[in-house]
Amino acid sequence: MIDRFNSLIHPGTMTSEVSTLYRIMNAVENNIGGGEGVEGLYGSITGASMERVLRSMETLTGLHTKQQPTVLMDVGSGLCRPLIHALVTGRASSCTGVEVDSIKCVKAEAFSTQVKRRIVKKGMNFKSDWDMDIVCSGIESLGTLNPVTHVYSFWEGVPVDARLGLGRLFKESRTALSICVVQRAMRHDSPAEVMDEEYGFGPLQLLDSFRVSMSGSGRSFMAYVFIKDRTPRNLIQSMFVRPESTKRLRDEGKEEKQQEANKRKP
Ligand SMILES: C[S@@+](CC[C@H](N)C(=O)[O-])C[C@H]1O[C@@H](n2cnc3c(N)ncnc32)[C@H](O)[C@@H]1O
Repeated sequence: MIDRFNSLIHPGTMTSEVSTLYRIMNAVENNIGGGEGVEGLYGSITGASMERVLRSMETLTGLHTKQQPTVLMDVGSGLCRPLIHALVTGRASSCTGVEVDSIKCVKAEAFSTQVKRRIVKKGMNFKSDWDMDIVCSGIESLGTLNPVTHVYSFWEGVPVDARLGLGRLFKESRTALSICVVQRAMRHDSPAEVMDEEYGFGPLQLLDSFRVSMSGSGRSFMAYVFIKDRTPRNLIQSMFVRPESTKRLRDEGKEEKQQEANKRKP
């Protein structure tokens, strides 16, 4: 399964290392008695699926960029498995998890410490000095998302009030640029409209969508990667790192400049 995503692995990160990370995380999860708490559902997508999510956010929304620090938030972070994956593979400068269930918050601290210890002990080629905060709260009670730039949420089992709260915060945020939600397939023709009309995210543009699998059960979900529709062009340009993306943007920029120059001609 992992091999299918070989081309999607970030340069310098070996596929086998990502699968070793997931073996470590599974062992530590067993050690701490599983990821369940007292509220909400629990579950993560597989390592290969998460790799694809990170790769998509990296390529299309500048999640990993040297030009600007990026802050990734997982809304409903559970044990923080997705955040640890992003941090050790260098996809985000810092990460924040928001989790409503206090038991999961305590478990997540122990989980992260033990995973870090095992990574160091194995001498893996991963970042182990990561910077991750866990906010133990319902997302709807937060005052702001700033300075978060990117949001991930596997929001199966996350109630509508929480989605509305996230939508409001995302729309209001000066820094939040992109969001990936993992959920059951949206039947609506325009997932961006659903995000705005049902949850109040404001105008979004859908950049990518693909099938992902849940770890353990193998249940199928969809990942939807969005960007704010009115993101200033210079901000997008400074965050995009992939040649194919920057080339497209550069070409569009040239066209715009040409049109402006033509307008100015007497
Ligand atoms: C499907 S799990 C995803 C866990 C984690 N993101 C992962 O992928 O491994 C959804 C998580 O959202 C949490 N949750 C539910 N309602 C929430 C809320 N209002 N605010 C923050 N977290 C919430 C649940 O407790 C659960 O841990």
